[in-house]
Amino acid sequence: MKIAVPKETRAHETRVAAVPETVKKFKALGAEIVVQSGAGTAADIPDAAFEAAGASIAKTFAATLKGADIVLKVQRPTDAEVKSFAQGQKLFCVMAPFADREITDALAAQGVDLFGMEFMPRISRAQSMDVLSSQANLAGYKAVIEAANAYGRGMPQMMTAAGTVAPAKVFIMGVGVAGLQAIATARRLGAIVTATDVRPATEEQVASLGAKFIAVKNEEFLNAQTAGGYAKEMSDDYKRQQAELVAGHIAKQDIVVTTALIPGRKAPILVTAAMVASMKPGSILVDLAVEQGGNVEGAEFDKIVETENGVKIMGLANIPGRLAADASALFARNHFNFLSAFVKDGALALNEEDELVKGVRLSKDGALVHPSLTAKG
Ligand code: NAI
Repeated sequence: MKIAVPKETRAHETRVAAVPETVKKFKALGAEIVVQSGAGTAADIPDAAFEAAGASIAKTFAATLKGADIVLKVQRPTDAEVKSFAQGQKLFCVMAPFADREITDALAAQGVDLFGMEFMPRISRAQSMDVLSSQANLAGYKAVIEAANAYGRGMPQMMTAAGTVAPAKVFIMGVGVAGLQAIATARRLGAIVTATDVRPATEEQVASLGAKFIAVKNEEFLNAQTAGGYAKEMSDDYKRQQAELVAGHIAKQDIVVTTALIPGRKAPILVTAAMVASMKPGSILVDLAVEQGGNVEGAEFDKIVETENGVKIMGLANIPGRLAADASALFARNHFNFLSAFVKDGALALNEEDELVKGVRLSKDGALVHPSLTAKG
């Protein structure tokens, strides 16, 4: 079992799909690991650390992949990298086929077996393999840190000889994995925190973190969670009621972090331009959904937009990548936890009947097999 770990080359990407700890663990299972030179540099892992853990180092992307059975990556390959893959190789990464179908189609046609780690089923057995959660958790934390840094005032209440500094009011919209960590981080910094979501299960979670829950709690709200644990797209009527409720609240906030996503769809707009215009000068919005279209009107990918009324809308690219060392370590463990569950006698023996394998397998023997990619219409 030969495993290749190439350097990530997509814009803003700082992470790497293996770390010395997982290299050692793969070696203990009988694997041979090749890491591309410089793959860990942006995550503070020099080639020497990979070598000390037992990996060999290859110079180029193509040389790293040569003869490998398994390729571990963070993001899907680029157009230029596709040709370096060989028929029968297995690629594990976030494939994002809905955002970029061409790369998925090209690799599948080339006979590469593709596994999209973002499709990991949300069951307890798979929690330690879930890259969406491990990265969202870090993104929620870092979003609050970035907001606090850009905010021209303090987060906690401070009683000083020169008078009192008021605590910041922080509002978290969308209380999934990222939102929960954002609430916890803002609370640790001493802010007054409120939060909203459309899934009723979140109300108790918000309260348990010491924040106040705000939401339109009608019949639709009570049925807004899918069996898979995700949110449904809400009706226009619900969105109108939600906007009315939120509008008055947002005007009084200092920091708003939005994290609302609906799988396979554009992110819902939760903060309109009028709401942004109602905020005080110096207020900060961080839109964690910016790569999926954004929750905040006016947010731009990889930009900090300053509005006429002095509000900053931060549409930061690849927030987990701003914590490259931790994000890589968690991502690498997710890969290891999944693959090691299927290693037998030093070789990868995927059980095709297992729901985790069915969940993440996108292609097999040159054809797409995942239901979300083969469904007609
Ligand atoms: P996500 O990243 O898909 O969405 C973030 C949040 O936005 C969700 O809480 C969603 O309800 C909310 N949202 C969507 N539309 C909204 C709207 N119009 N207004 C306000 N909020 C809106 O969600 P994430 O972080 O992936 O978590 C979803 C659930 O899945 C959580 O309960 C989480 O605990 C669970 N989960 C379970 C795992 C497992 O068992 N292996 C792994 C990861 C998550």
